[in-house]
Amino acid sequence: MELKIISVVGAGQMGRGIAQVCAQSGFCVQLYDENTPQLHKSLDFIKNQWNKGVEKNKWDTNHVQTWMQNLKILEGNQEWEMGLAKSDVVIEAIVENFQAKAKLFETLDKFAKKEAILCSNTSSISITKLAACTQRPSQVIGMHFMNPVPVMKLVEGIVGLQTSEQTLQIIKNLCEKLSKTFVQALDIPGFAVNRILMPMINEAIYVLYEGIASIADIDTAMKLGTNVPMGPLQLADFIGLDTCLAIMEVLYEGLGDTKYRPCPLLKQYVAAKRLGQKTKRGFYEY
Ligand code: CAA
Repeated sequence: MELKIISVVGAGQMGRGIAQVCAQSGFCVQLYDENTPQLHKSLDFIKNQWNKGVEKNKWDTNHVQTWMQNLKILEGNQEWEMGLAKSDVVIEAIVENFQAKAKLFETLDKFAKKEAILCSNTSSISITKLAACTQRPSQVIGMHFMNPVPVMKLVEGIVGLQTSEQTLQIIKNLCEKLSKTFVQALDIPGFAVNRILMPMINEAIYVLYEGIASIADIDTAMKLGTNVPMGPLQLADFIGLDTCLAIMEVLYEGLGDTKYRPCPLLKQYVAAKRLGQKTKRGFYEY
């Protein structure tokens, strides 16, 4: 199947990044969000990124013009349903909440053409459970992009219990066209990336909680000691402390092992709405 039209649902930080990368890779991209002002804000953000890239001589004006033509937004239910019917692939990037995603997958299944592949950018929700909300479980797969999407090279592909080999191959090929490196993981809580990353971040928060080292020293230790661009506490602020806590809870509940218990300090920061960069205060102030 030749993929031409990709719909991205959810125009938040991840959705807009996915739409940008797909448009830059030559696909016709339809970006949709039920929140219309957010949709326009994201479109402006992407165009601004492209214009900045031209100013920095990173991209050629002609290319950027083509990308702008490749990208359109779908406004209102009618455009959305018609847009879905034309899509070869739909990538869901809405809020990380099972009920919301389950409801959306039912809608996608209803309006998308029967050959279309439905992907979720979820970082922790079961692909098998989302697939079960549709009549096409073999065509449902996880496509977990990393933030910031245009910069990060990885896509973690998550294979649900009923995902077909054909779906997997199509999405692997799509990732190649997006210049992303694909790794494959099973649909077990946390998949591969967050099964490793989140306990590491959680442990860094324990190191702070137990008074073993300061915020700055924990981050410096890991930045200079393991050559990562951000220390674990800075990264936690970047990801969002509410997201980190939600993923730890998925690991704790899903795997039933006390080694995944979220640090009380993480819970306290979330309770205080100190969620990181997005609220301008987490472990650091922004
Ligand atoms: N969107 C698009 N591009 C961005 C961007 C954004 N939000 N933020 C930075 N960039 C681009 C800049 O435009 C710049 O591009 P050029 O070099 O072409 O001009 C480049 O990235 C470097 O940016 P900066 O110089 O401003 O900043 P930096 O060198 O400090 O890099 C960073 C910023 C890329 C975010 C870097 O700190 C980094 O890689 N951090 C780690 C990020 C990470 O680990 N992400 C994964 C999180 S886990 C996840 O996403 C999965 C999950 O489920 C939780």
